[in-house]
Amino acid sequence: MNLAELNKVAAAMVAPGRGILAADESTGTITKRFDALGVQSTTDSRRDYREMLFRTTDAMSKYISGVILYDETIRQNAKDGTPLVKLIEKAGALPGIKVDKGTKPLPFCPGEVVTEGLDGLRERLVEYRSLGAKFAKWRAVIDIGAGAIPSYTCIRTNAHALARYAALCQDEGIVPIVEPEVLMDGDHDIDRCYQTTELMLKIQFEELYFQRVALEGMVLKPNMVVPGKKSPKRASVEEVAEKTLRVLKACVPAAVPGIAFLSGGQSDEEATAHLDAINRMGELPWRVSFSYGRALQHAPQKTWSGKAENVAAAQRAFSHRAMMNGLATLGQWKADLERKAA
Ligand code: 13P
Repeated sequence: MNLAELNKVAAAMVAPGRGILAADESTGTITKRFDALGVQSTTDSRRDYREMLFRTTDAMSKYISGVILYDETIRQNAKDGTPLVKLIEKAGALPGIKVDKGTKPLPFCPGEVVTEGLDGLRERLVEYRSLGAKFAKWRAVIDIGAGAIPSYTCIRTNAHALARYAALCQDEGIVPIVEPEVLMDGDHDIDRCYQTTELMLKIQFEELYFQRVALEGMVLKPNMVVPGKKSPKRASVEEVAEKTLRVLKACVPAAVPGIAFLSGGQSDEEATAHLDAINRMGELPWRVSFSYGRALQHAPQKTWSGKAENVAAAQRAFSHRAMMNGLATLGQWKADLERKAA
């Protein structure tokens, strides 16, 4: 393992003013998003949409440090024959790849899932590296439900799989994004999210230690500490920032170069405001950035709606969200910058 090289890539992924575009939706997920817009999901329409994002030079060269791709996309060429990976590299961003194979029901834990994809992973990493991937992503999904959900079994099993994945990535010269996502579905309050996130992260770092993962060569992709979407008790931006930072300081060693949040179903502006508030809270031991899927793509996807004549407007919408989140990584975002753009 060349830890200096891994550390360099991890630091670049969370460079000041920049963050990651998660464009790694599986075909099923992007098809659902396209369906909602009345766009037919085909290999070409998925390519056109993602090519449009990667050709948004302003966003890609100034605010996006890396892009997480799906297996289909890392192998695709742009309309003019240029590999999409080359477009990303030309813009100055790093290509990455989602390597998990999604979730399956976890035996004896009704309602809970485990992320699969370890079998044959080393061979797949070797291939992805040859296709240009510098980092990878694996997402575990922890639900908060009534009673005993999440179970200890679910947390432990998912943390173990994430650590096995991270070790394999580092052994093959790829920086792992470790994503133990505590979902914001449900009606739980913010303190239940705090407790679950704390347990998940404590166990996650224990598993990473036992698998001999070098913390200097990884990026953590956690959820923020927020109330469930259906909770009647809402939380202010300050409360989310304060509780998120508190749990991270309690659980994430300073050797980790960067934390890049998922957006998880927050609105575009909430995801930006929370990130900004966290970065305003003073000197932090790690860089704190974003690895957003929905909160970066929602606006451009809707503006595009599958029509070539909307490409320029959709690219402006993507640039705007990328810039807002770039500013939030520096604690320099302001709500009136959103109004000005509207
Ligand atoms: P969201 O920002 O839409 O939660 O997606 C990020 C991601 O990559 C989830 O795995």
